Amino acid sequence: MKSLFGLLVIFACAYTNAQAQSLSDKHRAFQPGEIWTDTEGVHINAHGGGILFHGGTYYWFGEHKTDGRTGNRAMVGVSCYSSNDLLNWKREGVALAVHEEGSGSDIEKGSVIERPKVIYNEKTGKFVMWFHLELKDQGYNAAKTALATSDHPTGPYEFQKSLRPNPETWPINFKKSWKKKTITEKELEGWSDEWKKEVAEGLFIRRDFQTGQMARDMTLYVDDDGKAYHIYSAEENLTLHIAELTEDYLGFSGKWAVIEPAGHNEAPAVFKKDGKYYLITSGCTGWEPNAARSFVADDLMGPWTSLGNPAVGEGADLTFDSQSTFIVPVQGKKDAFIFMADRWRPENAIDGRYVWLPIQMKDGRPVLEWQDKWDFSYFDK
Ligand code: DGJ
Repeated sequence: MKSLFGLLVIFACAYTNAQAQSLSDKHRAFQPGEIWTDTEGVHINAHGGGILFHGGTYYWFGEHKTDGRTGNRAMVGVSCYSSNDLLNWKREGVALAVHEEGSGSDIEKGSVIERPKVIYNEKTGKFVMWFHLELKDQGYNAAKTALATSDHPTGPYEFQKSLRPNPETWPINFKKSWKKKTITEKELEGWSDEWKKEVAEGLFIRRDFQTGQMARDMTLYVDDDGKAYHIYSAEENLTLHIAELTEDYLGFSGKWAVIEPAGHNEAPAVFKKDGKYYLITSGCTGWEPNAARSFVADDLMGPWTSLGNPAVGEGADLTFDSQSTFIVPVQGKKDAFIFMADRWRPENAIDGRYVWLPIQMKDGRPVLEWQDKWDFSYFDK
């Protein structure tokens, strides 16, 4: 009897300890750049990600990276995590799995799947994932966008198709006379003033008119009226395009515009505040960080006005060693937005870190300041 009591005491103590352990393990603050463990204690694997808020839960989708340099290629697929507080994330598994190597599928193992974003279509009840796709063994030449759908936020997502946006369609902010120009890249010296002018006047848009426009780094944005937009780096990463999606979010409506011609922007991320749209991007330096840029517009289709580098303080010139991927509106807090960025580790892709920072608004501009550690009370200041 005595020994049974002893055993019970031992079990009770072990249980209490385990509870205390799991409580203390709960994340209570963001620690940009540090290892960020999921609820199982494993570093979160959702790079170049984006967040969907649906039915009271946040879902984080991102690139599932693996070890080493090859880990930048899609060896597994797109990860999904869920959370109620944006701090503690439960791994939901692989939302979109790559197809078998050698299958010839566009998303076969070893292709490049980057910056996946998921939106929910109220009319069809479908979850729609768009991502940047590069075909296996073709470097970054394919420059395609692709989509997959699911009936459930966490997946499994079924691959639908890959495509280049808007073939045989001109942007809405494009002069008639530019459509007829015949000058080609070969006749121009790269990065000369004349070349920049020609890029702004559609040099690459005309080149890619038949095939559809190039589409690399990307984000999605759903406006208050339910219309969705795809923003991507096009024209050899020189110019961002914003393209309206069809009502079912499964294609392009044909309405699109250019943003910052020849501005060399990647990594677009959007938020809306007081009826204005804000866009944060990076420059183009591969996996290396560079200074972020920001823009504002009254209409998503532009015109967009440059607001300069949103980062301030030490490390601002390299966006605190990170590159934007998404901006999350915090539910239940007015005007609380989190800037999500990646600190890439190209030599060991799986070790990439996340830099999440609160966005401050100062004189109508988004401002990012480094924080070693911060929590939601930041927004109450
Ligand atoms: C920068 C992009 O933002 C990343 O998503 C990735 O495509 C790297 N370039 C590849 O070098």
